[in-house]
Amino acid sequence: MTHSRLLYERLAEDLQEFIVAGNLRPGERLPSVRRLSQERRLSVSTVLQALRQLEERGLIEARPQSGYFVRQTSAPRAQPDARVTPDSPVLVDVSQRVMRVLQTSRKTGVAPLAFALPAPELLPLAALQRLYGGVVRRHPRLLESGPFIQLDNAALVRQLVLRAMAWEKPPAANEFVITNSCTEALALCVRAVTRPGDTVAVESPAYYLMLQLLETAGLKALEIPTDPRTGLSIEALDLATRDGKVAACLLVPNASNPLGNIMPDEHKRRFAKLSAERGLAVIEDDIFGDLHFGNERPRPIKAFDKTDNVMLCSSFSKCLSPALGMGFVATGRYRQQVALQKAITSGATSAVTQQVLAEYLESGAYDRHMRTLRRDYERQVNAMRTAVAKYFPAATRMTEPQGGLVLWVELPAELDAGALYDQAIAAGLAYVPGELFSASGMYRNCLRLNCGNPHTPAIDDAVRRLGALMARHLRAP
Ligand SMILES: Cc1ncc(COP(=O)(O)O)c(C=O)c1O
Repeated sequence: MTHSRLLYERLAEDLQEFIVAGNLRPGERLPSVRRLSQERRLSVSTVLQALRQLEERGLIEARPQSGYFVRQTSAPRAQPDARVTPDSPVLVDVSQRVMRVLQTSRKTGVAPLAFALPAPELLPLAALQRLYGGVVRRHPRLLESGPFIQLDNAALVRQLVLRAMAWEKPPAANEFVITNSCTEALALCVRAVTRPGDTVAVESPAYYLMLQLLETAGLKALEIPTDPRTGLSIEALDLATRDGKVAACLLVPNASNPLGNIMPDEHKRRFAKLSAERGLAVIEDDIFGDLHFGNERPRPIKAFDKTDNVMLCSSFSKCLSPALGMGFVATGRYRQQVALQKAITSGATSAVTQQVLAEYLESGAYDRHMRTLRRDYERQVNAMRTAVAKYFPAATRMTEPQGGLVLWVELPAELDAGALYDQAIAAGLAYVPGELFSASGMYRNCLRLNCGNPHTPAIDDAVRRLGALMARHLRAP
């Protein structure tokens, strides 16, 4: 199975390179299925699978009785460059604007391009429904567990520990605190290791929720330059933390939000070593780690953490359902502080859902579901990239996500995505303006698009209209 998958993937990649290099131009016909099968010594079904993949990526189209043809798409776009960030930490003020986007973009009739949410049809809702029924019948006493005492489900924690077995230093079972979401896990960790007025290092661009957490806790953000390919600059973090004035670092090294890149292992190792030397508390968000597009599950920084100064936060919101309300944190050396924050914030996490999740993971159903979901998200991100390349102004750049479900778009410098947001909403189009990913007002000409939905004609049309709106506001040459 793996073998045949690799064969069609390889053929798809070769053909894609051939097209992208301009060897076959838009409108030109691809070699016939029979010819490809003979020349590449592949079965007809393998060739068809490769062609189907290119079709889904929007590169080719099938014409009845005529064969496959290269589609009319614009040239592939460059990735944005890392930006220079301010040297000093700043107080954050993004929350009001985030809340406005949250309220306006969730209205009926608005195309779902703003928040990073999966389409319900991609989620294993029927299987979860059956499990909930079974769990409540088999374990009626779980309904008695009150909200005051946190009782982490041992079978669930065991599953989380098993998934970390191959790390250089796997977390121990007693490090885990089960939470109601990744948001909760991040909030508990921030409060556990900082005091108002402290400085926290963040990626640039940074996931806006992290900035909101700093804002509401009276913390200052120090934006660290971040490369759209390799992630947060370790050199810059080294310089920024020399004077011991940075209390913690918050980051998303696997399929970051919004850039979608995966930090290479060598950088993760260096990051773990540097943060250990500096005594820096690290809050790592790994919510997209299981949503990698490459073959191997990327390891988190926590995998290289020898001194237990990394707190690893995640949840099942993007993989199973945001409605589950189930996340966790491997707390490292901060167990006591995080457990206290959990107790005073929300008490316990649902005992029923913990058992459901434990059984879902134990049965192997999670891993099977993830194999499909990863491919779905990858297909959707690729289709979104193709649509942006086709419809947005020529100088637009965009990221090449290695996982997750968002795409970061850099518009020509003169466009201000924040200023155009109201017009977009009035036209039924939403996105998250780039400035919400910066504490110092950077990224005004950027925006983030959600790729959590299948790329239907309606989504494609929404991207087309958004591209046209941006193009209308470009200065005439
Ligand atoms: C990086 C990142 N962390 C956390 C979350 C929130 O996760 P949860 O719904 O579990 O709170 C999101 C949601 O978009 C996210 O992108």
